[in-house]
Amino acid sequence: MKATACKLLTLLISASLSFATVPLSSIQRVTTAPIIPNKFIVEVEDVSQIPTKRSMGFSHDHVYASLRKRGVKFKVNQEFKAQGLFTGAALTLTNPSDLESLSNTPGVVAVRPVVKVPAPNPLNKKIPQSASDPSVPPDSESTHILTNVDKLHAEGVLGTGVKIGIIDTGVDYTHPSLGGGFGPGHKIAGGFDFVGDAYDGTNTPVPDPDPLDQCNGHGTHVAGIVGANPGNEFGISGVAYQATINAYRIFGCAGQVTDDVIVQALLRGVSDGMDILTMSLGGADGWTESTSSVVSSRISDMGKVVTIAAGNDGAFGSWYTSSPGNAIDAISVASLDNTVVPIQNATVHGVTHDPVPYFSLFPLSETQTLPIFATSTDVTVVDDACNPLPASTPNLANFVTIIRRGSCTFVQKLTNAAAFGANVVLIYDNGNGFAPIDTGNFTQASLIQAADGVFLVGQFAAKAPLTLSFPQTGGSFNFPNPTGGLISTFSSYGPSNDMFFKPAVAAPGGNILSTFPVPLGSFALLSGTSMATPFIAGSSALLFEVKGKSAAVGKSIRTLLETTAQRVPSSLTDGDPLQTLSQAGAGLVDVHKAARTTTIVSPGEFLLNDTSHFNGVQTFTISNTGTTSKKYTISHVPAGTATSITPSTIFAADGPVPLTATFASVKFSKTSVTIAAGGKASITATFTPPAGLKAATFPVYSGFLEIASGADTTHVSYLGVANKLRDKTIIDNTDVFFGIPLPALLDASGNPQAAPTNYTLVGTDFPSVLSRLAFGTPEFRIDLVLPNTTVKPTISKRGSFAKVPIVASIQEFQFTPRNSDAAVNNGFNLLAFSNATSASGTPIPNGQYKFLLRALRVTGNVQTEADYESWLSPTFGINHG
Ligand SMILES: *[C@@H]1O[C@H](CO)[C@@H](O)[C@H](O)[C@H]1NC(C)=O
Ligand SMILES: *[C@@H]1O[C@H](CO)[C@@H](O)[C@H](O)[C@H]1NC(C)=O
Ligand SMILES: *[C@@H]1O[C@H](CO)[C@@H](O)[C@H](O)[C@H]1NC(C)=O
Ligand SMILES: *[C@@H]1O[C@H](CO)[C@@H](O)[C@H](O)[C@H]1NC(C)=O
Ligand SMILES: *[C@@H]1O[C@H](CO)[C@@H](O)[C@H](O)[C@H]1NC(C)=O
Ligand SMILES: *[C@@H]1O[C@H](CO)[C@@H](O)[C@H](O)[C@H]1NC(C)=O
Repeated sequence: MKATACKLLTLLISASLSFATVPLSSIQRVTTAPIIPNKFIVEVEDVSQIPTKRSMGFSHDHVYASLRKRGVKFKVNQEFKAQGLFTGAALTLTNPSDLESLSNTPGVVAVRPVVKVPAPNPLNKKIPQSASDPSVPPDSESTHILTNVDKLHAEGVLGTGVKIGIIDTGVDYTHPSLGGGFGPGHKIAGGFDFVGDAYDGTNTPVPDPDPLDQCNGHGTHVAGIVGANPGNEFGISGVAYQATINAYRIFGCAGQVTDDVIVQALLRGVSDGMDILTMSLGGADGWTESTSSVVSSRISDMGKVVTIAAGNDGAFGSWYTSSPGNAIDAISVASLDNTVVPIQNATVHGVTHDPVPYFSLFPLSETQTLPIFATSTDVTVVDDACNPLPASTPNLANFVTIIRRGSCTFVQKLTNAAAFGANVVLIYDNGNGFAPIDTGNFTQASLIQAADGVFLVGQFAAKAPLTLSFPQTGGSFNFPNPTGGLISTFSSYGPSNDMFFKPAVAAPGGNILSTFPVPLGSFALLSGTSMATPFIAGSSALLFEVKGKSAAVGKSIRTLLETTAQRVPSSLTDGDPLQTLSQAGAGLVDVHKAARTTTIVSPGEFLLNDTSHFNGVQTFTISNTGTTSKKYTISHVPAGTATSITPSTIFAADGPVPLTATFASVKFSKTSVTIAAGGKASITATFTPPAGLKAATFPVYSGFLEIASGADTTHVSYLGVANKLRDKTIIDNTDVFFGIPLPALLDASGNPQAAPTNYTLVGTDFPSVLSRLAFGTPEFRIDLVLPNTTVKPTISKRGSFAKVPIVASIQEFQFTPRNSDAAVNNGFNLLAFSNATSASGTPIPNGQYKFLLRALRVTGNVQTEADYESWLSPTFGINHG
């Protein structure tokens, strides 16, 4: 079982990540596994595909009959009947102890838990006030120019005849730029609402045929990136605005969704004949095995295109891409920062100084000219306004308050300033980068550049008569984005824990202006891999139009996009290596080149795996589909090698992940080849992983095999890790995070249990197991054992153990992601043992016990005890009367 949470992937930067020990007292003693108890997705044998069983009829009925015969009580929530793709049902078991019966029922292929998919973060959206708002970006088609989508548009390629299914919050099809209507003949030609407005992931979905969304907006923004009609007042257009769109609504106005609903929507998209399905959602995972991942990959194998967001967890470093984006054969999409960003200027009065640019699409709505107040006159202060301001602080209502970025969230600083009446606040950068920030409910706050902040604080300290005003018109301009053309820092890093090439490609995803529900303002600016993903869906539609809508074309699209992508640097400094492909994928798509290249290279990716499973000899094929003979030269272009684990620790290095220039080396069977028009050639590449790096840093190496004919270049991407994954420590056995050694048995007050204790399991009198995973594990389990167990745990003592007799299994998850180093963001795992029952609901008698926690190492054998790490808790007692 796995336990990943999915969310919509839009974001704003909320704080500068700074690592500090997390107080234990901040931890709520609530079990962290985000799955629905007793609810499972059961995959059953598809008897129609088995010649000897075809006469048996409908597979589900046999499974239900077999369950009833054994007295298993269950409710069918949904049935999945996509033959050859996914056959099964979402079931609720009345009695959780029947799980084993269910798993052992003949005809059952797999049983997976139903994952809870948490609420999308509220969007801190920027919405134009009127059609003639001068703050609207003058260059709203820059993303099309970056990717040469504009060239295909100029050639008349607009996605005509292609069907794209958007699985999201629904779409406001009343929007004039989205066709203004719903149903056959309209741009939004079909779809379904699987959940209803009131659905929040905990209540019963109320489906209806109408996927209208006028309360959330995310899906309407996604739909505009795919298909907004040109000619609107904001000068934007979708990548494939002649394509037809089906809207599959799986989120209500607010709240969560469950994995079974995602699967329903995917299967419905297939049965409705969609050529492309796109999902701007997901949760940090690292594995390829969730039900929605597995189904997405199978849909891709049918020759459909499935585009899925890579995730917005770049801050947490490698091995952390999202599910379902990790789906093996789908296209996982990274985000690239746009080259220009529309921002505003504040005007400086009283002293001569240039306007102060502040990061906002629209002007702050302050119309008065105000003096400034700096919360600190120290321009190096690290935690400005993180604590309540001194009582001597004046009423800030009639000032522009100036605060330095750092240490705590922007909202915390703003809250402290607001306690003294602050209304308008400018936060100046501390070197972390000029970017849109999350100001929560504070609409009159924005980020300014470090130098401007230093200037303003200096003027304040000198008591200069400086005032600021916020022009409501004419202050907007396109700022050359200092990180333009680089992968967005928020874009998640792969690879998957088992070395799949995730993400696959990148598209613009930062500061994207697109459509929004009419009642919510009609247009909005959002950021995230959520915005990059529909860009690739639209790009795929253009490729289908150019190459034909066959399954063969569908299966070739990821390779075409990968082999023709534009390489992405790791910085704008000359001499720095290319960005690791574990964040950039094969690079920024060049959609015109993907459509028109006459050099077809295959495959697009070489998965070199770890050093124990090294696939170091690889062959690729070059086809010349042009009309003249071409001479190609073959060369190796390495990208930076990612130091995925911080040296001398067991923890993933936070993003931006440090890179080294110690590369793999490659020998080719030929370094040049002439291919006649219509001919092809194969080249063999023999790889040697980079040498001389510390293996314990799990160096993720990557790069390109370049195929050049003059200026026309294509490439094959490769990725490997220069160590054995079997050697990667999984369980955090340090005290770095909470200041106490982990894992830990916590007592009723949430402190480490200091002496043998009996618990009544009444109220809060129960023990908990607190643990962290430094790396993902294919198998994580917590069992109850007797205190005299002979098991020798590997943590604190090394050694393996023989078959361990257990009293009861308490928790078991398959394909569990690692934890992050932010407490509130998947920072730890907690088991609250508040109920004296096993995982399957069997009562546990009073007595003395220990918890045994085990995690299987990556590529380890699930049957081999030596492939697990383990920890044994202190003894505790259960005494529940
Ligand atoms: C905004 O301010 C910047 C920096 O002072 C300046 O370069 C730019 O021209 C200004 N733009 C407008 C529209 O005033
Ligand atoms: C923002 O406002 C919403 C709705 O009024 C409220 O639920 C939420 O707690 C507020 N958030 C903050 C950070 O104040
Ligand atoms: C790498 O090797 C492991 C062990 O054989 C395997 O499970 C995994 O699927 C391989 N990864 C890839 C990308 O082939
Ligand atoms: C816990 O309960 C057991 C069994 O009743 C008893 O022997 C033991 O002394 C108790 N331990 C503590 C610390 O109260
Ligand atoms: C552990 O204790 C249980 C019951 O107290 C007993 O049945 C079992 O034989 C003991 N096992 C060992 C290895 O001593
Ligand atoms: C404990 O678990 C049982 C079996 O799942 C369940 O019936 C009961 O309601 C649970 N009790 C509490 C307090 O959660």
